[in-house]
Amino acid sequence: MSSRADVSPTPVILDVDTGVDDALALLLATRSPAIDLLAVSCVAGNANVDQVVRNTLLVLDTAGAVDVPVARGADRALLDPLRDARHVHGEDGMADLGLPPSTRQPSDLHAVELLRTALEQASRPVTLVPLAPMTNIALLLRTYPHVAQRIERIVFMGGAAAVGNATAAAEFNIWHDPEAAAIVLTSGLPVTMYGLDVFYDVTVDATVAAALSASEDPAAKLAGRLIAHQVQRLGGTAATIGDAGVVAAVIAPDLLTTVSHPVRIELAGTWTRGQTIVDRRAWVGDVVADPHGLPPADVDVALGIDSDRARRLFLDTVAPGLPDPGDST
Ligand code: RIB
Ligand code: CA
Repeated sequence: MSSRADVSPTPVILDVDTGVDDALALLLATRSPAIDLLAVSCVAGNANVDQVVRNTLLVLDTAGAVDVPVARGADRALLDPLRDARHVHGEDGMADLGLPPSTRQPSDLHAVELLRTALEQASRPVTLVPLAPMTNIALLLRTYPHVAQRIERIVFMGGAAAVGNATAAAEFNIWHDPEAAAIVLTSGLPVTMYGLDVFYDVTVDATVAAALSASEDPAAKLAGRLIAHQVQRLGGTAATIGDAGVVAAVIAPDLLTTVSHPVRIELAGTWTRGQTIVDRRAWVGDVVADPHGLPPADVDVALGIDSDRARRLFLDTVAPGLPDPGDST
């Protein structure tokens, strides 16, 4: 990713399946002066797509981002049946907090049309940030291939060089729609993969979540309540900010330690469907001799993150002035 040497905000589009951590990512993106959030597209994943739209609108309202367009996208994966992650995010996808819905309606456009329009109208190439199954992104690239030239980079949450979460081998966003992920990763576009190798590293302690929850600021309060839900669900003392870490990495790319590798998506394996196979072979002789050949472009795979600085960035942006007893820096 390009450094953030320039001071103008980065044009960004988020594709979400809001969900608790997508909500944290939306709060960070809308509060950061380094991000110009052009649009948000919704897709089925953590919850059904209509619930994702409802959750996304209420989070943007809470952050005061009432002008950011939101559109409803795919209600299921390209091939696989609808599956959700209510065991992680609650029945409503938002920790079952009972939050009132927004009075705002989503765009009349389908998410693919909103994505196309936002990309075509952007003043400069856009950083596209999928935080969900990549069904909308695959449909966009196949329906309007010309928009690829309007995409600066795709920075996605998904996959893993090591273990999965939805299954032993696959991470949820990829597992939910492997074909869509394969379409995106073979697009030839510059891609950064923010996978499980770093996803769980950026955490917020229960004590900080409690301080956020006590805030008068509605966005900070919501962040605290969502994090507290995850801490309680896990029975621990801290919880990951999940997708919000991807937005932090867009704001400050030097948070990540990345290595460029070929990445394949397993589509056929009984036990491995949806696995991201990160090719870390050291000897080029083996790679060149590989009967499968190579994908069109390597992926910048995040294998490390400055988790303290990422947490600090999240808290300083979403809740300025909040002390962070969990900060070891
Ligand atoms: O595997 C974690 C990912 O799946 C996160 O983006 C979470 O929100 C779910 O979409
Ligand atoms: Ca997500």
